[in-house]
Amino acid sequence: MFRIAPSILSADFAELGAEVRNVIASGADWIHFDVMDNHYVPNLTIGPAVAAAIKPHCVTPTGEAVPLDVHLMVQPVDELAMAFAKAGADLITFHPDAERHVDRTLQLIRDAGCKAGLVFNPAMPLDILEWTIDKVDIILLMSVNPGFGGQSFIDHTLRKIEATRKLIDATGRDIRLEVDGGIKVDNISRVASAGADTFVAGSAIFNQPDYKYVIDAMRGELEK
Ligand code: DX5
Ligand code: ZN
Repeated sequence: MFRIAPSILSADFAELGAEVRNVIASGADWIHFDVMDNHYVPNLTIGPAVAAAIKPHCVTPTGEAVPLDVHLMVQPVDELAMAFAKAGADLITFHPDAERHVDRTLQLIRDAGCKAGLVFNPAMPLDILEWTIDKVDIILLMSVNPGFGGQSFIDHTLRKIEATRKLIDATGRDIRLEVDGGIKVDNISRVASAGADTFVAGSAIFNQPDYKYVIDAMRGELEK
């Protein structure tokens, strides 16, 4: 039930296919794909062409598909979301403050055959969920301000995870609760205890040589 989603933002971009295969062979459940447009966030990363290029690498060594989890930090959202759906995204999350008609965007993503989700920055309230949660398959809580890997986990997020978990449980639906930013072996169990079930980790995994060692250690913390 727990999912570990390595963020390839901290991978070696010159070796992306090999990095994706390696981190999947090391136990990644999802591949987290950070899209930044130098407008919504002050950084510029990768687009639909790169998603399409890595899609064939998103399989386990035994041939099982590994979901491609696209986190859009872009404004506006709709056109790019559709391009990522075509490129092979399985899940698409976007920041509701980056698009005017959030209900429409969620519907567009679902109509394109993807799971749809909203992302909340550390300072952003959860209010909009009151009128969107029926169309949401995943909620992504940022535990850093978006734009860069390697930042420190912001502690007040833990209370927000607890609040979000309550909202999800009240729906009775299977909505994923993903947390992104500053997750390491030494804090993942606190994030899980607060109610998260899906954990993005970039620098903690890719900034050291043995991906399996870190992913196993994270899973060990989750199973304690
Ligand atoms: C930040 C991105 C994250 C980032 C996480 O804007 O959304 O996915 O890659 O990196 P770490 O795990 O290093 O905080
Ligand atoms: Zn992300």
